[in-house]
Amino acid sequence: MDWDRLIAAAAAARANAYAPYSGFPVGAALLMEDGSIWAGANVENCIPALAVCAERNAMSAAASAGLRRPQAVAVITETSPPARPCGLCRQTLSEFADDLPILMTNPQGEREETTLSRLLPDRFSLPPR
Ligand code: THU
Repeated sequence: MDWDRLIAAAAAARANAYAPYSGFPVGAALLMEDGSIWAGANVENCIPALAVCAERNAMSAAASAGLRRPQAVAVITETSPPARPCGLCRQTLSEFADDLPILMTNPQGEREETTLSRLLPDRFSLPPR
């Protein structure tokens, strides 16, 4: 997996994060089934529950363009070690991918790779209808 393009897209999105309440900008970028890259940043609100994470904004952008199969995701935060995707984002990604390589990085260049199935081994799913 060539992570460099995804990391660059995630970092560019992070620069646009709207995080005046937490002061914690996050960027995420998804490689989709057609090779396109969709990025997102976290967007907060004065009502804290309305904050939307970078990963979910990226996934919503891709899904809104008709794409359904993420192949990989890169997430960039400022922390060391790099932050993990939150539970809501794990569940959201699991709607579209049984498994997914996930790269977590930071501007210092630390990289940690994991998978969605490792971060969310037993996802919620509805019974078949
Ligand atoms: N955040 C993300 O964007 N992605 C995550 O996976 C975890 C948290 C955002 C939400 C909020 O704007 C800020 O980071 C602090 O929680």
